[in-house]
Amino acid sequence: MKDMMTAPFLTEMREITANMYRQGWDERNGGNVSRLLDEEEVAPYLDLNNVLRTIPTGFDAKPLAGRYFIVTGTGKYFKNIKDDPETNLGVIRIGADGETAELLWGYRDGGRFTSELPAHLMTHMARLAIDPEHRIVMHCHPTYTLAMTHVHPLDEKSFTHTLWETCSECIVVFPDGVGVLPWMVCGTNDIGRATAEKMKEFRLVVWALHGIYGVGRTMDEAFGLIETVEKGAQVYMLTAGRPHLNTIHDDELVELAKRFDLTYRKDYLDL
Ligand code: 13P
Ligand code: ZN
Repeated sequence: MKDMMTAPFLTEMREITANMYRQGWDERNGGNVSRLLDEEEVAPYLDLNNVLRTIPTGFDAKPLAGRYFIVTGTGKYFKNIKDDPETNLGVIRIGADGETAELLWGYRDGGRFTSELPAHLMTHMARLAIDPEHRIVMHCHPTYTLAMTHVHPLDEKSFTHTLWETCSECIVVFPDGVGVLPWMVCGTNDIGRATAEKMKEFRLVVWALHGIYGVGRTMDEAFGLIETVEKGAQVYMLTAGRPHLNTIHDDELVELAKRFDLTYRKDYLDL
């Protein structure tokens, strides 16, 4: 058996969570990340018959039975993940009943997976149905995105449109737009279901007055989506309340879409 500490998927989690922390997106234990793993990725590093503990998930994730995930732990500080991954992360397999998680590695102090597991697993199910290559769900609390939800209407069309107007890269990076949920109690099956529903349409879902979810085939895709929304939101917040002398107009957004051959939400423009 190879040394778990050398597993590429573990290195990737340690590095991405450190980067998220460095960006200021994950104060204290704010945020959580899960990555779907293929059995072939896990098998060289862990004895798949050695279940350390079983932990109830609190909902039915039967479509994911037998699937493996590496997931951040609940209450765990992002700043500590890199140096102590075995306490702050866990590798789980969803049990045959879909209602338990079998712990194969991690949560060394008796901890458990993120309280946002419902939103993560329900989102994994929704995205896998759209894209079999989907792997990553990332949640965090980027400051300007969060600030924007305090002062901007929360309908998806205007929220997306405002971000697209802030800088050229926004429509290029997220032509499919940004889903928005109103404030809800976090860590519940309800917010999980609502998030997964939005994820049928969007790769980004903002939780008003809380944070954002991004998904992707790779860590870079999910990280890059969130990073670009946050850049747009930062520009918006730095210019909010001042006269807007210049903007990217809708006909110019169309030009961008043509130049980059984008399939985009045409219904989010007023042409
Ligand atoms: P966890 O510590 O349970 O992952 O919760 C953090 C969070 O961001 C809740 O939305
Ligand atoms: Zn959160």
